[in-house]
Amino acid sequence: MSRTHRIAVLAGDGIGPEVMTESLRVLDAVESKFGFTTERSEALVGGAAIDDGGHPLPDATISACEASDGILFGSVGGPKWENLPPDTQPERGALLPLRKHFGLFANLRPGVCLPSLTHASPVKNELIPNGFDVLCVRELTGGVYFGSPKGREERDGETVAFDTMIYKRSEIERILHVAFTAAMGRGKRLVSVDKANVLASSVLWREVATEVAKDYPEVELEHLYVDNAAMQLCRRPDSFDVLVTENLFGDILSDEMAMISGSLGMLPSASLGSKKEGSDLYFGMYEPSGGSAPDIAGQGIANPIAQILSVAMLLRFSLGEADAAQAIEDAVAKAIDDGYRTGDIATGAASEKKVGTKEMADAILAN
Ligand code: NAI
Ligand code: MG
Repeated sequence: MSRTHRIAVLAGDGIGPEVMTESLRVLDAVESKFGFTTERSEALVGGAAIDDGGHPLPDATISACEASDGILFGSVGGPKWENLPPDTQPERGALLPLRKHFGLFANLRPGVCLPSLTHASPVKNELIPNGFDVLCVRELTGGVYFGSPKGREERDGETVAFDTMIYKRSEIERILHVAFTAAMGRGKRLVSVDKANVLASSVLWREVATEVAKDYPEVELEHLYVDNAAMQLCRRPDSFDVLVTENLFGDILSDEMAMISGSLGMLPSASLGSKKEGSDLYFGMYEPSGGSAPDIAGQGIANPIAQILSVAMLLRFSLGEADAAQAIEDAVAKAIDDGYRTGDIATGAASEKKVGTKEMADAILAN
């Protein structure tokens, strides 16, 4: 019996459509190899949608996403739309509302530097002899970014401003289940990052992490304070497998990890919502960690790997096609091992095959 999945395809702006085209060719290839099909609903988002009908997130786009098992997203934004009022700009007006609309509370950002690309990492190469491969699981819809009260007022003749870091037990539990599940599928080591020596919300976080750990006896759980975690990522990057943390800490640590990984053009991401009824799969949105790269858009030189690996994450977490996902990841690693390099990861060494967007995808397809 053939398996059919529905996906929404939102290519967006800048390099988005260029890398999306290549990632869909890779999806075609794994579909025929692994015997499933996807029904793809392409919809406008971001600047492209503003140009078409005046709004960065049209109702038709939301409907296409609602009817899907997962969303494949390119990137949005660019200089053309920069001066619009904030809430109607491509990123603020499309990306954030999409996350909110679908309750995408778990942000998965793999920080991966393949062994042959460690030259791109600013970390001393002897610290990452086997490359770097850590998954950051960041809580995305709670914490200090959304807590109330939040505001600014005059008190005793002086301006004060305040935010509230707040977490419900249920919010911590669900993100920890995502992280433990991810750890089960990898090296079975999880580091939970908090600031339990100072913050009440972190004390609860640590308690809940310790409780949830009982459901996953095979996973080794370690707790680190966030300041120490930031140091250890630089000092012993090799020792991490999966890291889970709240919204603000995750925002900062995932950028640190992206930097250690070297190139933005290599890094996918997933934003997951609830598990689907009676299933281990999540509804989610998958996109490169970088943006629309207007500086290189339209030249056919963008690295398509972040988008292609986003397809792999979609297959793994939303469509239940783990073998196809693994095949894509292996094919990408082999293309890199074989020396194929887009501009962002090239060093100019004679052994490298300098390629553009399409040729990189061709190399991956051939694998
Ligand atoms: P950016 O990630 O687009 O670009 C930063 C640098 O990384 C640029 O030099 C770019 O050429 C390079 N880069 C990024 N992806 C690449 C790839 N696949 N291959 C080769 N090089 C790559 O970030 P920037 O410049 O801050 O923002 C540009 C636009 O993208 C802005 O309008 C911003 O609002 C938007 N943006 C959208 C995001 C999204 O859709 N999720 C996320 C971040 C920014
Ligand atoms: Mg970003």
